[in-house]
Amino acid sequence: MLFKEIKNSVFYAGLNDADRVIFDELIPLEHGTTYNSYIVKGSDKTAVIDTMYPPFSDLYLKNFDENGIDKVDYIIANHGEQDHSGSIPALLNKFPDAIVITNDKCRQNIIEMLLVDESKIRVIQNNEEISLGNKTLQFIMAPGVHWPDTMFTYLKEDNMLFTCDFLGAHLPFGDLYAKNDDKLYSMAKRYYAEIMMPFRTMCKKYIDMVEKINPSYILPSHGPIYNNPKFIINAYKDWTDDKPENLVLIPYVSMYGSTEEMVNYVKEGLEKNNIKVKVHDLVRDDLGDLAVNMVDAATILIGASMVLAGPHPIAANACILANALKPKAKFVSFLGSFGWGGKLFETLSSLITSIKPEIIEPVLSKGKPKEDDFKNLDKLIQTITEKHKSLNLI
Ligand code: FEO
Repeated sequence: MLFKEIKNSVFYAGLNDADRVIFDELIPLEHGTTYNSYIVKGSDKTAVIDTMYPPFSDLYLKNFDENGIDKVDYIIANHGEQDHSGSIPALLNKFPDAIVITNDKCRQNIIEMLLVDESKIRVIQNNEEISLGNKTLQFIMAPGVHWPDTMFTYLKEDNMLFTCDFLGAHLPFGDLYAKNDDKLYSMAKRYYAEIMMPFRTMCKKYIDMVEKINPSYILPSHGPIYNNPKFIINAYKDWTDDKPENLVLIPYVSMYGSTEEMVNYVKEGLEKNNIKVKVHDLVRDDLGDLAVNMVDAATILIGASMVLAGPHPIAANACILANALKPKAKFVSFLGSFGWGGKLFETLSSLITSIKPEIIEPVLSKGKPKEDDFKNLDKLIQTITEKHKSLNLI
């Protein structure tokens, strides 16, 4: 496969993985993903920026031969996770004179995870530069988007910013450049929800930094290249903004329909009060959609049946996911039904503490909801409405 030239001897050397169905064994991939690697050929030196997921190493290296690349001087490791660093050993084996350029945290990771020979690594500091002759690479530390070892590489002469995982998307592509359409927006948001949302504060910081750099190209390590970066910059500004949307997200699991009846009642009541509601069936719907809706929701209302003496494990899983992804939601509540007793809300609320939500009084029904339960649901609807009004969302 021929490497595609982006501009001025900067080439795309990555690969599509359209068959991959899940990432981190957690969030389903709708279209697969890509592992982006870039080659920058200067007048004196050649650098590779990020490498390849190990199952694709052989094909990746074969492409170097097919493209006549017989010398690599620098291998830039922007991040130690193996979908990008995993082919460093193979690349060093092929180009034994190459030096790995990275920061100290990433150095430790690639030594421990990939057994890279320490003597082959040169550690650089924030803003340090290396010259490739007529091109200069500058390294910008960006810990927290998403690992502590992450950095960006800036190609000064071509105003290209290689942002590693930051600003990426799980979306294979044929043309190099982002189409900036609804499909990409959706995939970039799903990617943000799973990978970047837990680091929302850091994302805000680095999106400001990227905006100040004002690159002509943003070259992430997953998904297409942005030659009109405003699209992704504006999207991240929106997703990372502290103010949530007038949205209630209701993930639920219902064994015999009672919890579902309560969910539908609340949905209808909230919508009458001009609140947008998204209901998510935890058994049948895609977990990635749940993560995406967490990006914007002001309130998360979890519906759960009781299993034995505790919450249904699938509802517990939704709480654990929210706790890990740290959405900006301000309010959390619960509803559900039980057969003979046990602790439902106490257990669920203990699993979703990281975002420090305000807990709204939950509603619990014994079996099918009855008149008193509907009165309590009316109260829940009213309280959520007032809370949304207090944030000027309605
Ligand atoms: Fe795409 Fe953090 O690896």
